[in-house]
Amino acid sequence: MSTSFWVNGVQQTVDVDPSKPLLWVIREQLGLTGTKFGCGIAQCGACTVQIDGQAMRSCITPVSAVEGRQVTTIEGLAPAEGELHPLQQAWIEHQVPQCGYCQSGQLMSASALLANNPNPTDAEIDAAMQGNICRCGMYGRIKEAIKSTNVASSSDEKLFYSVAGVNHG
Ligand code: FES
Ligand code: FES
Repeated sequence: MSTSFWVNGVQQTVDVDPSKPLLWVIREQLGLTGTKFGCGIAQCGACTVQIDGQAMRSCITPVSAVEGRQVTTIEGLAPAEGELHPLQQAWIEHQVPQCGYCQSGQLMSASALLANNPNPTDAEIDAAMQGNICRCGMYGRIKEAIKSTNVASSSDEKLFYSVAGVNHG
């Protein structure tokens, strides 16, 4: 049975069991391996993607649930080829990644948070990120990187981003 949905702005149609987790469709059918498998039971956050802008666990999301919807993976987070999302820039500046395994999930949760709430409080950051486990213990740096990334709306309501201390033109 075929399922059609959008991934990083490109329409995809896959012919798989509709109960197959989105995680494995992304990795195996579409070849986008930035989204990771950790626990498979919605406990670690390694598999986080955005579905219609909301952070979701792809390991427990059947592909049938995204019919006609917009999926964003880590490969689609940067605004353009050769550019970084401001959070990715902040991640570098704060030296967040260690082993790296949890990082795509962390970034997809954090970017969903900032898209919906440009200036989150510490408590809101904690609430949004609490399901993303980092076995390297980078929680402090993750939080500082999120807090250093300011998101402001322009007059046409398109989101523009700037990282504190960095000029992105
Ligand atoms: S692999 Fe999905 S939450 Fe752990
Ligand atoms: S950077 Fe290693 S698990 Fe998070």
